[in-house]
Amino acid sequence: MQIAHFSDSHITAPFSPGIIPGLFSKRIAGFLNLYLRRRYQLINAERNLLNVLRDIKARGVDYIVFSGDITAISLKHEFLRAREIIYNFIDKKKLFIIPGNHDQYTYLTSKNDLFHSFFTSKDDFISYPYPKIRIFEDQAIFVSINTSRFNPLFFDASGYADPAEIGLAQDFLNKNKKDMPVFLIIHHSLLAPGGIRDVFFHRLRNEKDILDFIGKNHIKYVLSGHIHKYYIISCKNPQFTQYNPGSTARGSNPGYFLYTLKKGHEIESEYISV
Ligand SMILES: [Fe+2]
Ligand SMILES: [Fe+2]
Repeated sequence: MQIAHFSDSHITAPFSPGIIPGLFSKRIAGFLNLYLRRRYQLINAERNLLNVLRDIKARGVDYIVFSGDITAISLKHEFLRAREIIYNFIDKKKLFIIPGNHDQYTYLTSKNDLFHSFFTSKDDFISYPYPKIRIFEDQAIFVSINTSRFNPLFFDASGYADPAEIGLAQDFLNKNKKDMPVFLIIHHSLLAPGGIRDVFFHRLRNEKDILDFIGKNHIKYVLSGHIHKYYIISCKNPQFTQYNPGSTARGSNPGYFLYTLKKGHEIESEYISV
């Protein structure tokens, strides 16, 4: 079984008068930041995502994981465009997609759960919307705990995992864990490059709760995003490996991870640059 993993595509809406009403919120700061400081992202996001998806489709990968931040500032236009692009290449049933903090950018986006109205439905998961759980072909269990939330301050990209949600995921694994590897999918990375903690306004604030969950369930694979740089890092206590494919929107050579599930629950990983 092969699994492709990409992240942080940050699809943006081209500027048009129609998006102006939506900017009167925290979005105005995000929008200006994007247009004035991160124009590279605006220019590359869509083209890069298309290149990644073409490559994934050409390989005939079995399942695809997207670990959050499909949009830049949670505009309806962005969700629509991202959905149109992704479902043009990927069968919805093969996709395990979660939101990132940029997909819950404003209070109303988060309250109305705009992300889930565009992506995913209850039928695609055993447990939904949080924790999201699926078993693929009786070969692997995919569990996602939501770490993204609405943050009122535009520079605050930190996350928080609801302990009640972790409890539900634990109940599920207590009852259902068979002889299968468990993949934990979260938007916020537990470890930054170099094995250090991410900075205060970017980190998962209660990462200890997730680390306890990993240790208790002997989870070996954590697929994350949020940090726009691809890297793999191993942690000794608890013992797991975290894979972050970086942002497809960044630079002109985006990429994704390709995991091949081997016998004995081992995986082989490869970073594919397109
Ligand atoms: Fe991101
Ligand atoms: Fe993020």
